[in-house]
Amino acid sequence: MVMRCFLRRSLTVAISLLVFLLLISLSPWPQEDSEIKEMREWVQDAGLQQLHTDWNLHSLQNLGNATNFLNISYRYLAGIPPFEKKFLTVGLCSVKRKRENYLLETLRSVFEQSTHEELKEMVVVVHLVDPDEEWNAQVLEKIARRFALQVLLGRLLVIHTPAEYYPPLEGLKRNFNDAEDRVRFRSKQNVDYAYLMNFAANLSTYYLMVEDDVRCSKSFFTAIRKAVASREGSYWVTLEFSKLGYIGKLYHTSDLPRLAEFLMLFYQEMPCDWLFVHFRLLLTQKEVIRFKPSLFQHIGHYSSFQNTENKLKDEDFEEDPSTFPDNPPADMITDIKTFENYLPNKAYSNVEDYFWGKTPSAGNSFIVVFKQATRIFRIQIRTGSEQRPGDYLRAGLVELGTQKYRSGLRCSSYVPIGHFEHGNFDKQNLESSAVSAPKCVRIMVTLNQSEWLIISSISIWTKPGP
Ligand SMILES: *[C@@H]1O[C@H](CO)[C@@H](O)[C@H](O)[C@H]1NC(C)=O
Ligand SMILES: *[C@@H]1O[C@H](CO)[C@@H](O)[C@H](O)[C@H]1NC(C)=O
Ligand SMILES: *[C@@H]1O[C@H](CO)[C@@H](O)[C@H](O)[C@H]1NC(C)=O
Ligand SMILES: *[C@@H]1O[C@H](CO)[C@@H](O)[C@H](O)[C@H]1NC(C)=O
Repeated sequence: MVMRCFLRRSLTVAISLLVFLLLISLSPWPQEDSEIKEMREWVQDAGLQQLHTDWNLHSLQNLGNATNFLNISYRYLAGIPPFEKKFLTVGLCSVKRKRENYLLETLRSVFEQSTHEELKEMVVVVHLVDPDEEWNAQVLEKIARRFALQVLLGRLLVIHTPAEYYPPLEGLKRNFNDAEDRVRFRSKQNVDYAYLMNFAANLSTYYLMVEDDVRCSKSFFTAIRKAVASREGSYWVTLEFSKLGYIGKLYHTSDLPRLAEFLMLFYQEMPCDWLFVHFRLLLTQKEVIRFKPSLFQHIGHYSSFQNTENKLKDEDFEEDPSTFPDNPPADMITDIKTFENYLPNKAYSNVEDYFWGKTPSAGNSFIVVFKQATRIFRIQIRTGSEQRPGDYLRAGLVELGTQKYRSGLRCSSYVPIGHFEHGNFDKQNLESSAVSAPKCVRIMVTLNQSEWLIISSISIWTKPGP
């Protein structure tokens, strides 16, 4: 009965989309010319009849069996699987919430914050996981109406896994003394994620997990692509673009079948955000690789579990990347003794990591030497860290250096531009300072201090602020 209702609604959606398609093929739509053109081509390729059949419930078998090791028949609710492998899949699960629902807002943010070019390389998969089929059908209809174009262009897929594929969700182990309903909630969530990842394994090269209540920063896709390029040649399992929950975590899709299987094996043991840490460690990525600023922000005020309040926010989130620092290529030189592998360049990279030096004394320096003399508009330096707020720079001076020695890396003459205050330095409008295109930025320690020194970030802007 429920099933038939679902089918009927799917067909309704299909029909309304066909009407929509006819409408747009009849009327001019100047702003989105290229998208419409692309869609017309697609419609020609696929044929309208095809569109209609694709709208019926589908089995993943049609996508090929190679990665479908969990042998699930998904219900294909909306969208057409992309013809070719994309760069990125953005995946999320959504359940009914008693209070506000943010799914549509989340999707709007994903699409609005991406350019046409970026969207071509990306596919969004929504896994509707509420046991209430009626609710799923309503949401499906809203999605199909609001994002008809993205659905038709194969950029947005909506799937559902029938309840019969779920392992038992009653009488589970109560690890950590969690309440029974909490255990049921988190165990089901692990399975929801596993099936979503299993589905996505074949769609793209990389997979990004987000939740159904996030806001994205502008051109997050390009920021992720750059981050991936910056790690080329080095081993990683998970790159993180948010510090919250299961938001903004990037995987190679080649790892997804294993991760999905892993979540299934341990689904009742612990919450997903612990399991994904174990997964990374098992695949021998020891350290968290988190990029700053964060690209995703939590917008919900209530968690999907029992609608409890959840006001977690990521203070490293930046909505507009045109405000991100540019940090041109540079080498770091310091005579402060480095602790373990907290190397000088970690202060300068956009990965969440830092330089950690032992007891600096007056006269020690930390120098950023640009590969090329660079016009600078703003410099911001932060010392100390959340965990070790005591390890900040007690007294220091920032200077711009000009002339390089012929052979050496260092600059020969420096002009001071200001002092650290409470361990931080931030100066703008440097384009009009005495040194117009410095080759070096030097931090001079001006007092002995007994505490060690953490330089958590050095940010340099080579363009005027917005
Ligand atoms: C996938 O596997 C099923 C059963 O094992 C088979 O019937 C189907 O033809 C396969 N599909 C493809 C595309 O290989
Ligand atoms: C996959 O699922 C189908 C239908 O549920 C079943 O007939 C088939 O035996 C399964 N294949 C494997 C390899 O488990
Ligand atoms: C998925 O994998 C199968 C088998 O490896 C392949 O034939 C198919 O083209 C892939 N689909 C996509 C969208 O890449
Ligand atoms: C600062 O430290 C250096 C080396 O550790 C030492 O030689 C110097 O005397 C100290 N200066 C002061 C003012 O304590």
